[in-house]
Amino acid sequence: MTKALTALPWAVVSPQEPVVDLASARPPILDLPDLPAAQQPEWPDRAALAAVEQEIRGLPPLVFAAECDALKAQAAAAARGEAFWLQGGDCAETFGGATADAIRAKLKTLLQMAVVLTYAASVPVVKVGRIAGQFAKPRSSGMETRDGVSLPAYRGDAVNGLAFTPESRVPDPRRLVQVYNTSAATLNLVRAFTQGGFADLRQAHEWNKGFVRDGGATQRYEQLAGEIDRAIKFLRAVGADNPSLHRVDLWTSHEALLIEYERALTRIDSRTGTPYDTSAHFLWIGERTRQLDGAHVDLLARVRNPIGVKLGPTTSPDDALALIERLDPEREPGRLTFVTRMGAGRIREALPPLVEKVTASGAQVLWVCDPMHGNTIEAGGVKTRRFHDVVDEVHGFFDVHRALGTVPGGLHVELTGDDVTECIGGAAGLAEPDLVLRYETACDPRLNHQQSLELAFLVAEMLGER
Ligand code: PEP
Ligand code: CO
Repeated sequence: MTKALTALPWAVVSPQEPVVDLASARPPILDLPDLPAAQQPEWPDRAALAAVEQEIRGLPPLVFAAECDALKAQAAAAARGEAFWLQGGDCAETFGGATADAIRAKLKTLLQMAVVLTYAASVPVVKVGRIAGQFAKPRSSGMETRDGVSLPAYRGDAVNGLAFTPESRVPDPRRLVQVYNTSAATLNLVRAFTQGGFADLRQAHEWNKGFVRDGGATQRYEQLAGEIDRAIKFLRAVGADNPSLHRVDLWTSHEALLIEYERALTRIDSRTGTPYDTSAHFLWIGERTRQLDGAHVDLLARVRNPIGVKLGPTTSPDDALALIERLDPEREPGRLTFVTRMGAGRIREALPPLVEKVTASGAQVLWVCDPMHGNTIEAGGVKTRRFHDVVDEVHGFFDVHRALGTVPGGLHVELTGDDVTECIGGAAGLAEPDLVLRYETACDPRLNHQQSLELAFLVAEMLGER
């Protein structure tokens, strides 16, 4: 009797027999070569990391491959100047920060910026959040020292804790499962808000009128807001009503940094039989991990998502061309975005040779300006950025593309919907002593709600001339 039972596949297995774990039987979708991977945590327990990777491999994808293709088509439109790319969100999302209020405020900020930019550019704005997955950070130093005590640097909630204690700073692979869960919950709310009526165009414009009324704006913005107001009233008067006025697409993106996590969420698309990294719609490689022979370039070369690479001021034209060769050998429209982050003082010299050579090569990349990462300074004991430098870099970006006859295709910013005090300057005149008032970022300083809208109004003026 006992014998017959154990012969059945669903029989209870005795403790002596090995337990067959179905998840661990799942083969990896990407059998990656063993290449050097920069900026990886020193995981103390590799077996625990492997087990987590297996576990995540058994979970559903976060996005659908066809969505990634739709975004790729929109990136291609932005590269041609037929759309404008707006990408923004936290430098580092945190598990604790994924509250309904914070997600709503970020979304609201992006939508408010998008209304202004859409009107100014007279083309669709492609809205991409640094959201629902932006939990891992590259660091310039592996260690952090405070008052003579050195501990491993914080690498994002995906890896370790922000608290400056030895226990909190130990990399813990279980956090990757929490990245997945927090991303899923965030994405779920984003989808509900953007499809469920929160993202109504008229509503976003009403918020902007509030911003103008509350003195957040100068006369120049008031005039632009007034024009948008008349355009919306006109739409209403002629009875123009269309689902696109009530709903938006908000795409997700993050830096593809942790190889095991990205690999675990890479799946074969049932329509095409090709791999997509389903952790987000759009993935980018950072300035510190774009080595041509490294694991990050190899990983993104294999997946079919639209992808980006950050390019800092030391990038040579040959580096850019080699990245195109590796990541977009077919020259697929919308496939590759170059996010330049040169610094306000360098963009006017550093960007033209890159754009010239890339354009001459026949590649059609989307050029996006990140005016944040080249403009970080230390002040009052914290990292900050001057609003003036941020605006100046965007100006330089538009100037360079205008001079070369190429397309300034978009903007990539670190922002939050909250009234934090992390960047100095802007119409409210935030100054260095104000930084202590509400400095909350887990990593780099973000534009607050008002500074983000101000930037949108200023970029609107530049776009008007595009
Ligand atoms: C970032 O976008 O937060 C970042 C680290 O950027 P970069 O790779 O350009 O330094
Ligand atoms: Co950052």
